[in-house]
Amino acid sequence: KADERESLYLVSEFASKYFQNILQKTDQGKSIGLSYFKERGFTEETIKKFDLGYSLDEWQAFTDEALKKGYKLEYLEKTGLTIVKDEKRFDRFKGRVMFPIKSMSGRVLGFGGRILITDKKAAKYLNSPESDIYHKSKVLYGIYDAKQSIAKEDNCYLVEGYTDVIQFHQTGIKNVVSSSGTALTSEQIRLINRLTKNITVLFDGDAAGMRASLRGIDLILEQGMNVRVCTFPEGEDPDSFARQNTLEELHDYLAENAKDFIQFKASVLYEESKNDPIRKAETIRDIVNSISKIPDRIKKEVYIQECARIMDISESVLFSTLAQMDKKEL
Ligand code: CTP
Ligand code: MN
Ligand code: MN
Ligand code: MN
Ligand code: MN
Repeated sequence: KADERESLYLVSEFASKYFQNILQKTDQGKSIGLSYFKERGFTEETIKKFDLGYSLDEWQAFTDEALKKGYKLEYLEKTGLTIVKDEKRFDRFKGRVMFPIKSMSGRVLGFGGRILITDKKAAKYLNSPESDIYHKSKVLYGIYDAKQSIAKEDNCYLVEGYTDVIQFHQTGIKNVVSSSGTALTSEQIRLINRLTKNITVLFDGDAAGMRASLRGIDLILEQGMNVRVCTFPEGEDPDSFARQNTLEELHDYLAENAKDFIQFKASVLYEESKNDPIRKAETIRDIVNSISKIPDRIKKEVYIQECARIMDISESVLFSTLAQMDKKEL
């Protein structure tokens, strides 16, 4: 089984090198893939640092090359790089720009592939399927390139997408990782927890991003970590925002807009519900429920005080609600 995993690693590493080579050295790669990345504002240095690549717009160019080099079809299929159907073989990532996904130690586990022209026909991003080396719920895109900065800055920015990670690096912020298409999991948070206790969630400025941020908060609190949230203007994401701003402007924006989770929930949920007693009650319950996830008793108490102040409600009623919730958990 260990041997088989090693074979999957080797074929993935080969694929990553192959896609990079196609991007950098072939006419189609340069005119389509490389110019796409450059139009997005990625520099040559950034493209190399993240080992970005391109998969030719041909049915089995990659598969043929891998087989020729002696990689077994079995492993090409198990990593999902090749799709086998009725004896025919297809390159999964045909005609897409490629983002290799690496483990904490830098091994290639899988890929995200982006279509160049977004229309309704095909998914914008296609990702490698689960395999013996790629478990989506346990991987964070960018962790290998971010781990040192996360420890040094004692904070981790958590974004939604591949390009958010890359554009932040290029702007000069390196302590950033992405859950890349999966809803954030406890296992992903545990990876960060080994490096820092502080997470700043930076999700897209749209309804989906807001929902994802709210969902992620409790999972982070449960692990005794501190969570701050910073939203972006409507229609912007960390990539588009970083691209339009200098490092200094980005730092200033993050410093001014990152809110503690309770202020975030209060500003989003409370502001829209404060004139409706029933919804206000629901919001307060929601926030106390988040506070109930915090393992540390002292922190819990501090947050209850803050909640009481923001929501304009007595601490004692919040404490008794908290006690009821704690009981239910047992
Ligand atoms: N995603 C995915 N499949 C999709 C759409 C999105 O796996 N069909 C994942 C990708 O990892 C993507 C992330 O969800 O990076 C965030 O989605 P979105 O905000 O739509 O994409 P961006 O990262 O902003 O990509 P781009 O700027 O290239 O449009
Ligand atoms: Mn490299
Ligand atoms: Mn989005
Ligand atoms: Mn986005
Ligand atoms: Mn984007």
